Amino acid sequence: MTVVHHDPAARLWMLTTPHSSYVVRLDDHGRLRHLHWGARLTPEQAAALPYVLDVATNFDGELAEEYPGEGGARFGVPALRVVHPDGSRSTEWRPDGHRIEDGLLVLSFRERLGPLELDLCYRVRPDSDAVDRWTELRHTGADGQPVRVGQLAAARWTLPLRADYRLGHVTGGWSAENRLTREPLARAETVLTSRRGITGHQANPWVVLDAGDAGEEHGEVWTSALAWSGSWRITVERTVHGLAAATHAAGHEGPEVVLRPGESWRTPVSTGLYSAHGFGGASRAWHAHVRAHVLPRPDELRPVLYNSWEATGFDVGLAGQLDLARRAAALGVELFVMDDGWFGARKDDTAGLGDWTPAPDRFPDGLAPLAAEVRRLGMRFGLWVEPEMVNPDSDLYRAHPDWVLHESGRPRTELRNQLVLDFGRPEVAAWAHAWLDGLVREHGVDHLKWDMNRVLTEAGRPGDPDADRLWHGHVRAVHALMDRLRADHPGLRIEACSGGGGRTDLAMLARTDQVWTSDNTDALDRIAIQHGYGQIYPPGTMGAWVTDSPNPLTGRRLPLEFRFHVAMTGALGIGGDLTHWSEDELARAAELVARYKRIRPVVQRGRLYRLRDAVQYVHGDEVVLVAWRLAEPHGAPVVPLRLAGLDPQARYVDQDTGEVHHGAVLTARGLSTGLTRDHSSRLLHLRRQD
Ligand code: DGJ
Repeated sequence: MTVVHHDPAARLWMLTTPHSSYVVRLDDHGRLRHLHWGARLTPEQAAALPYVLDVATNFDGELAEEYPGEGGARFGVPALRVVHPDGSRSTEWRPDGHRIEDGLLVLSFRERLGPLELDLCYRVRPDSDAVDRWTELRHTGADGQPVRVGQLAAARWTLPLRADYRLGHVTGGWSAENRLTREPLARAETVLTSRRGITGHQANPWVVLDAGDAGEEHGEVWTSALAWSGSWRITVERTVHGLAAATHAAGHEGPEVVLRPGESWRTPVSTGLYSAHGFGGASRAWHAHVRAHVLPRPDELRPVLYNSWEATGFDVGLAGQLDLARRAAALGVELFVMDDGWFGARKDDTAGLGDWTPAPDRFPDGLAPLAAEVRRLGMRFGLWVEPEMVNPDSDLYRAHPDWVLHESGRPRTELRNQLVLDFGRPEVAAWAHAWLDGLVREHGVDHLKWDMNRVLTEAGRPGDPDADRLWHGHVRAVHALMDRLRADHPGLRIEACSGGGGRTDLAMLARTDQVWTSDNTDALDRIAIQHGYGQIYPPGTMGAWVTDSPNPLTGRRLPLEFRFHVAMTGALGIGGDLTHWSEDELARAAELVARYKRIRPVVQRGRLYRLRDAVQYVHGDEVVLVAWRLAEPHGAPVVPLRLAGLDPQARYVDQDTGEVHHGAVLTARGLSTGLTRDHSSRLLHLRRQD
């Protein structure tokens, strides 16, 4: 299969994935027009494609351009906004060649009047339905005059024209991330955005569009996600002519990048993925793509971890951590992570951030005794860090008050009593690398939980005329530091965290091993949060802890088994105060941890099917089903669960009871779960019979 095809006569390029095609062509005026994103086509069929839209009246027009700028009769969302030195904004892009190599397509353009070059870049792979896109803008002028760049989109994703569209995305907040919503697409511009300098809890940079007729397992869906960990904006437009398109850009409105002669600006990657198999099919394709092409270490079976945060809060010390570590090891935990509070004067959130040496009163001999005992117990050792932050009440801030993002003469707004270090300054990035590298080296730290508990405010750098760049520069510096640490310490794992799930995105997943999904560990709330997470991101990256009952955040009481089962649908962790768990609870927890280890290859690597009040994973011959019952009215029928993705001709053996099920019966009639009580749950592990 040729993944990139060029038809010189038609001035057309087609990208081919296993189940989709993507086609653009130059029109007679040299404008790049979007032709197709959807079912697979042959080159001959692609050459016969009419334009998606070709509307030109005396009053209006719409051409479905692949990457519209400003100027001319263009009234939609511009992918590119620049201000030339003379104050004008129009651009007229002339084709300037193309390059094809190994699944990469670069289409180059030159601005007719200004010294600007533009590359539209695409990448496809033979084993993934994802199309990666990004853009590079170059200033080639020699006259010293900069241009101002207000927006440089990674991509504009145009859908085929349909009578209706529906937009799916997630909304939320701290402890309520990833609430999935699907609503008719407004005949307007719908802006999903983060202006906070992080990916954000309130929205997440992806959208799923369909024609209003897709379901979980049927229908066409067009999805796209931006791989960026800072501010971002996805504008979904439904134009007056009925067309839908989603423009993906890093950054929010306001900050401009000044591009000087000789400089270039490259966007992050935006990935689009088309599926003809509904929302579930799209999710499975995303999971496969992220595992194959995004995660740095996809083959690792994610370890069962213990994290001390909910048990101790800031009240950490050697004796307490040793006690928890011993109890965790007895449950079968494989990685022990000490959370916030181990350094400097950090007894609460008012002081100590930035002073990354073990607290002498709590760890008089440093971290070595704890790390050694954790290893002796057979576990790996992990630590919480928050490298981008500083408390004003810290030695670091007293020594370097100018190292934080701030604007001259303006207040330094504190959130959670902390300020943001300016990682775009080389000396700050070098300082952060030095202590992190030293910490990992000295203690052989296996896992860093990299937190980021506040957003950017007064994001300035006095005296620097390019200060607006720091919105991008901060993110790039964080990515670079993570990349460098991973390169220097190949065994190091990193967990992305930002007050729970505030920094969940494909760029983070490219340099971390799992994400802390939410500070909300209530298993009932988690069902919704995890449902949203799994729309795009694979379950094996989704950190899920079993914590105490009543839950410290919600006060809700839930059975231990229910809490475990919900957490076992992702990367299982335990975060409860084990010193308060009864002997019976500890014994049952140990059984459930052992059970998770048996099913985790299926959960972490399998294909996910979302059923009603259940999730199912299929991996090779194995099937795992986790089903639960929420609060149901008395007498509500217990409807059999119809499993998906099975071979109807095969038999499947229950790995716990030996009972044999026919695939056809499980699919057609369904499985009786026997869940008659609220908050009961069941885990089923089947293996296809030879
Ligand atoms: C926010 C994280 O989401 C929590 O898990 C915990 O690490 C705290 N920060 C520590 O301050």
